[in-house]
Amino acid sequence: MIKTKIVIGNWKMNPLTPKEAEKLFSGVAKLVSKIKKIEVVACPPALYIDKLKKISRKISLGAQNMFWEESGAYTGEISGEMLYNLGVKYVILGHSERRALGETNLEVNKKVRAALGVGLIPIFCLGEKERDENHEYLNFIKKQIEEGLVSISKDSISKIIIAYEPVWAISSTLNRKNATPDDSREMIVFIRKILSDKFGKNALDVRIIYGGSVSSKDALGFLQEGGADGLLVGKNSLDAKKFVEIINICEA
Ligand code: 13P
Repeated sequence: MIKTKIVIGNWKMNPLTPKEAEKLFSGVAKLVSKIKKIEVVACPPALYIDKLKKISRKISLGAQNMFWEESGAYTGEISGEMLYNLGVKYVILGHSERRALGETNLEVNKKVRAALGVGLIPIFCLGEKERDENHEYLNFIKKQIEEGLVSISKDSISKIIIAYEPVWAISSTLNRKNATPDDSREMIVFIRKILSDKFGKNALDVRIIYGGSVSSKDALGFLQEGGADGLLVGKNSLDAKKFVEIINICEA
């Protein structure tokens, strides 16, 4: 199976007004009209999605979270089915910023299963907070994968996108450090090995992407030496020009 490369913008809790959201989305849409080989996704705050989907079909839409139940008395939550009915294709799950608020592997797993159940493509995020000399962080990652993917079948694993985001490299982390393509490649090989042990050859079809302060300066490195099948971009997806520079690098 040929894996289409993917560039995903995670807008996080930005921007503040629908007008700014439309401006950003339209700006990207205008500049990506010639993109053919890769897939471009924007994950804005959920309340902007309905408006944005009318602007361009060139950019797929993703949500940043969802709840595992279909409907009912769950104040403040949005279900996968609601997102799907809105025209959403992807959903970021298990982002480190949600895990920092208390989300557990078990909850992430319920969300991954519910997302697949309604036809959404999960962007399953994982990443260690820090690296230690004894390589304990590898066990941490292994646990995130194993617990996050409980009861996922061999047939559905290839539908999931795995986003490796080392928390220590994310732009919002205090005293952050730059991750290198070597860091990315080492971990992507490790993740692929765990997936292969669990899901056999279907693991080869899983797109494993890199996220953590990606810019136009290092995008190529993460895609080539870093072995990533795509990129999950935070801060630099909030500037149409910067985001499109990264998209163009991936397309080329
Ligand atoms: P930054 O690109 O701002 O580091 O964010 C990465 C991220 O968390 C994307 O989900």
